[in-house]
Amino acid sequence: MARIIILFVILFVSLSEVEAISFKITNRCRNTIWPGFLSGATSPPLPTTGFRLSRGKSKSVTIPPSWSGRLWARTLCSQDPTSRSFSCLTADCGSGKVECSGSGAKPPATLAEFTLNGTGGLDFYDVSLVDGYNLPMLILPKKIVLGGCGATGCLVDLNGACPRDLKLLAPGRRGGVACRSACEAFGDPRYCCSDAYATPDTCQSSVYSLFFKHACPRAYSYAYDDKTSTYTCATGADYVIIFCPPPYTSEKLLGSRKDGATLPLVNKSMIHLQ
Ligand SMILES: *[C@@H]1O[C@H](CO)[C@@H](O)[C@H](O)[C@H]1NC(C)=O
Ligand SMILES: *[C@@H]1O[C@H](CO)[C@@H](O)[C@H](O)[C@H]1NC(C)=O
Repeated sequence: MARIIILFVILFVSLSEVEAISFKITNRCRNTIWPGFLSGATSPPLPTTGFRLSRGKSKSVTIPPSWSGRLWARTLCSQDPTSRSFSCLTADCGSGKVECSGSGAKPPATLAEFTLNGTGGLDFYDVSLVDGYNLPMLILPKKIVLGGCGATGCLVDLNGACPRDLKLLAPGRRGGVACRSACEAFGDPRYCCSDAYATPDTCQSSVYSLFFKHACPRAYSYAYDDKTSTYTCATGADYVIIFCPPPYTSEKLLGSRKDGATLPLVNKSMIHLQ
């Protein structure tokens, strides 16, 4: 009997040590989206690198421990009837297929960035608009822990409100389909935090990055916008990533979470822009 119990204990301990976590990806957008994943260079591969997700549907993806990488969602995708090549008007990964197979998103794209089990056994995650914006996104850790595991995201639809110089237009589509970063639009080192501006002291926010920051106070708006944009959670948490979260979700979250995250998820003064 004792032996069986010990066996169970060993089995349980070893199982919980290697236990993978999951990302639940949810599409609350009006249309189909095609999420894409890119693993970091030293990161274990994922069971999928891209898939189709219909409106209202969710899909859980098993994530190996200590994974790092990014995910996004492609929009307005189609397959060419003659070449059979698959491509998207925003955030295309250029693989010609629904699976991204090691290719990243073509900007502009709203990115979710993760480093699981990083420094100090913490998960680090953020929503980044450094490569522009194409969809509203919310990262929601399933654990709620005092002093950590805050929700982050960019909940405002910025495609309509996007400054004219940054707007990505598509033939036959009214309004913009995405919003470029100033770096991509103008290639100026000042906006890209490159060359003489490659340090936190020399690269400052700009009128363009402030447009993103004011709408989405928790999201990265330019490369060195670290202080208010990186979130942490004790490792082992599962995450829900919602594309186009309904606005009332944010109200509920803000009301129920006392995690010390003082910044609002969405700047209410920007809601009228939608
Ligand atoms: C986190 O990483 C450390 C090594 O850096 C490893 O020993 C530990 O098992 C990892 N924890 C999880 C939950 O993956
Ligand atoms: C909200 O937006 C307004 C107007 O753009 C801006 O002045 C204010 O600083 C923003 N608030 C936050 C928390 O970003």
